[in-house]
Amino acid sequence: MPRALSIAQQIEKLREEIRRHEELYYVLDNPEISDAEYDALIEKLQKLEQKHPEYVTPDSPTQRVGGRPADGFAEVVHRQPMLSLDNSYNIDELRAFDQRCRRLADGRSLEYVAELKIDGLSIALHYENQILVRGVTRGDGRIGEDVTQNARTIRSVPLKLRTKEKSISGEVEVRGEVFIPRKVFERINAEREAQDEPRFANPRNAAAGTIRQLDSKIVASRKLDMFAYDLLAGDRKPFATHWEALNWLEKAGLRVSPERALCSSIDAVIEFANRMEARRDDLDYEIDGLVVKVNSTALQDEFGTTNKAPRWAIAYKYAARQATTKVNGIVVQVGRTGALTPVANLDPVSLAGTTVSRATLHNADEVKRLGIRIGDWVLIEKGGDVIPKVLKVIESKRTGEEKPFRMPKKCPVCGGEISRPEGEVVSRCVAADCPAQLEGRLLHFASRRAMRIEGLGESLVHQFVESGKIRDAGDLYSLTLDDIASLERMATKSASNLLAQIEASKQRDLSNLIYGLGLRHVGDHTATTLARQFGSLEALSKATVQELDDVPEIGLTVAQSVRDWFDDEGNIELCKRLEAAGVRTKMDKPSGPANDTFAGKLFVLTGTLAAFTRDEARAAIEARGGRVTSSISKKTDYLVAGEEAGSKLDKATELGVKVVDEEAFKKML
Ligand code: IVH
Repeated sequence: MPRALSIAQQIEKLREEIRRHEELYYVLDNPEISDAEYDALIEKLQKLEQKHPEYVTPDSPTQRVGGRPADGFAEVVHRQPMLSLDNSYNIDELRAFDQRCRRLADGRSLEYVAELKIDGLSIALHYENQILVRGVTRGDGRIGEDVTQNARTIRSVPLKLRTKEKSISGEVEVRGEVFIPRKVFERINAEREAQDEPRFANPRNAAAGTIRQLDSKIVASRKLDMFAYDLLAGDRKPFATHWEALNWLEKAGLRVSPERALCSSIDAVIEFANRMEARRDDLDYEIDGLVVKVNSTALQDEFGTTNKAPRWAIAYKYAARQATTKVNGIVVQVGRTGALTPVANLDPVSLAGTTVSRATLHNADEVKRLGIRIGDWVLIEKGGDVIPKVLKVIESKRTGEEKPFRMPKKCPVCGGEISRPEGEVVSRCVAADCPAQLEGRLLHFASRRAMRIEGLGESLVHQFVESGKIRDAGDLYSLTLDDIASLERMATKSASNLLAQIEASKQRDLSNLIYGLGLRHVGDHTATTLARQFGSLEALSKATVQELDDVPEIGLTVAQSVRDWFDDEGNIELCKRLEAAGVRTKMDKPSGPANDTFAGKLFVLTGTLAAFTRDEARAAIEARGGRVTSSISKKTDYLVAGEEAGSKLDKATELGVKVVDEEAFKKML
């Protein structure tokens, strides 16, 4: 029988187990146990340590949380100053950096490591004989603050390094960037709002505010994370290359961003920069660019530093996505569904490569949350969406001249009633004849993915509606040349072009028509599914909720919404008029695929294909009975990966989904 373990052994065994789960969870993103099971392990360890305080060590997982709040933070002088970086803002400046480096390298070969520039704050972690002894903020680069207790709460910071190398065993310093993942950031802000505390403007501020919190319990609840990007042993770099240092850090149990590249030329760096910029919104943390570093440690030493930044590294900044500007006015727009959207008119400001003069305020709740007034200075941000949003009011810039703004009680366009159902954030104008809604519906009907009537823009639609020439989409098809030519700034030539466009739109696919009718919850993809399934507008109009719900990819919400739309007599009337005007309301061929080589197979498309647009590839798959979805799951049969395939490719590999490149895809077809 094996001998019973001593208390010390039991404790150490438990710690090892917990460390393994922490690494699986926080570093490898691949947990094996639930949060509750993890908590139970911690609790067990806590109990053992309480009974036997003589065995409590600073690297115990229990030491992450708690600890007495300190009276402020002690100052620590950095062993090596924490420098900042010079910036470059475009490819030319990046090439100029490369030229400087090559001049300094004087013919010797030169490699770069390109890393993400994580938008957080830097920290230095001191390890002595593998044990984390201190965490220090950057401070002014020379002197930082001792935030050890808080650093311990970061689950991806190992309290003990996993390393065997003798050369890297004494005093080790790991440097990296502390950040808050986007999702956690949203959660923190929601909580702060509920407690009437001001929101953090961005994840970086939230991370900086958090690491300097005196109560490490609060810090622990904020779920900071860290990517390591530098290593010192004593006060020198222990590896011949930066690349090796990063790999070592990873092996030692730190989290190192997998998005890194060893580049043999500046062109390879640029390629990586562009690839990552395209994926910027898919990452679950904020980045503001890249950091490009000379790989060879010997060359780094030789190039040296200025008193501010190393000569062997540079930041390559993506276009800023936040800016401050002034609110000149707030207007309330009424969309095609009657939704009221407050929009701020701004002093034009340059943001992420475009000039911005409007930002959405979303809805009444958001206006209230922001407390925005006309004349305020605001911080705006452009994310993945086309129109930027207002993050916060800069109250310190108020002069007292600002004018309050209130959401209107009636529709600002038609004066109709506004309704806001319980539990919804959106207020809507419910007037059936609101001209703003009609304009929105017409613009949607004419839009590219719907009936594609080129030339029918905002100003024309407005004039048609205002003059009463058009009361619904059906009226478009009885417009005469005179009707159009009599409008402002309309010459006969453009009037006849528009007529030709309207005529041509009659031949669009049934799916375009269904999308163009603007049923709630029916996007262009759903419209295609419905067209395929029912084959005609008439058949669709007669489908029961059950029949609709039975269609793959159609859920109950959509089913109900489609039924509701066709239950409205006015809508049925519109369908009849469109049909009478000669608009195609049936599928060309009988529904069903041309052949069934892909019957039942689920495809996902990613990257750029040389010979197909996305729509063409989709059509080719669907014509053979296959289906295309946008996200990968275990059910996916094939991922068709073109050039520059991104995270979907990783996901497919992870899930064991078969990946085919363009050549293979063509063969399958
Ligand atoms: S290296 C001497 N690598 O950017 C080298 N910095 O603008 C100094 N940062 O203070 C830093 N991601 O807080 C490096 N992969 C990365 C980084 C990174 C973010 C931050 C860091 C630094 C600032 C300089």
